[in-house]
Amino acid sequence: MPVKKIRIGILSSGGDCAGINPAIKWVVKTALDERVRAERGIHYEVVGIKDGWEGLVQPVPAPEYLISLDPEVVRTWDRYGGTMLGTSRTNPYDPKNDRSRLVLNNIDKLGLDVLIAVGGDDTMGVAHKLGTEGINVIGIPKTIDKDLCETDYTLGFETAVDVITQEVDRLRTTAGSHKRIFVVETMGRHAGWLALEGGESSGAYIILIPEHDFSVDKVNELVLEGRRAGTRYDIILAAEGAKPAGSAEFTREERLDAFGHKMLGGIGEFLARQIEDGTGLETRSVVLSHLQRGGAPCAYDRRMGRYFGIAAVDLVNMRDFGKMVCYRDGRMTTCALEKVVGRLKQVDVTRLYDVERYNGRRTILTPDYAHREESGTGKC
Ligand code: F6P
Repeated sequence: MPVKKIRIGILSSGGDCAGINPAIKWVVKTALDERVRAERGIHYEVVGIKDGWEGLVQPVPAPEYLISLDPEVVRTWDRYGGTMLGTSRTNPYDPKNDRSRLVLNNIDKLGLDVLIAVGGDDTMGVAHKLGTEGINVIGIPKTIDKDLCETDYTLGFETAVDVITQEVDRLRTTAGSHKRIFVVETMGRHAGWLALEGGESSGAYIILIPEHDFSVDKVNELVLEGRRAGTRYDIILAAEGAKPAGSAEFTREERLDAFGHKMLGGIGEFLARQIEDGTGLETRSVVLSHLQRGGAPCAYDRRMGRYFGIAAVDLVNMRDFGKMVCYRDGRMTTCALEKVVGRLKQVDVTRLYDVERYNGRRTILTPDYAHREESGTGKC
């Protein structure tokens, strides 16, 4: 059987996070698996593109942005956080500096048959546009914000939740010793998943999310209520995009990034001052910031990176392009990129958030649980 050669390009783009490296490793290992190469009759080659779309907006293919990947090169990558390929927030379709023609030219010159992009909403948006221009694209979801539609998981999220949990554990001893309140600011621009699930994991007393504007008076009431009940200290988690009703989001810089995003930050310190003024209790703020994106991937991110990477190569084998691999309802699946871009998966406040306590839900089973139990397969 004649062997067909297929060249896959892979890049990571947008904010880095844990879990990207495992995905890259498993794309490479699966594509170059000797045992299945014979069965497929396809000889894959994988080229890593460095620094996200920046590596493809060069005037001509630039060798310093390229790395040939094989199982030996990527062997240990899944143990490390960040992305070994580097990343950037470069937007080839930036209306102020459209360099999409350069990307198309470089893909052509490099002879890339397929391009796999590991990223969040912005990256999927670029991949989708390239898809409409005839490029065979596949997306792998990653973002610690977990705000991509059509997938229940995005790489980096669980590691970030672990970081939040560990940092809050550390804060508890000092908060308790000094009888202080700590407001911990997490990432999460428009979606409160990190604050909510990080707060649930770490047992925060109050959790504030972008999906539900809060009242400072109510926060102070809850804090005083806790004190009356005998609490020595409190941990309050606030997503960077959380805000008091009637106020705009807090920004740390005026400028927008290449995808038009505001750089958020400041809600933690604002709230700490409001609590101290309103309750008379000593209050400090901590911004977890990029610590949440750092560190080695947790076990779940290593496994999910592996599954997403393998599924991406499955799509290449099936020549099913313009898709993002997804994890939905407990199964690996896919969806069209166009269904993902420009949408945002936010916390469903009615189902998952307690607006009275500013915290996670206290009811989990919905009234139809008995019916769902009955209609199960009965198999374990
Ligand atoms: O989009 C992911 C994210 O981690 C957001 O939660 C946060 O606002 C942003 O990235 C920070 O981006 P940068 O690394 O460019 O400061």
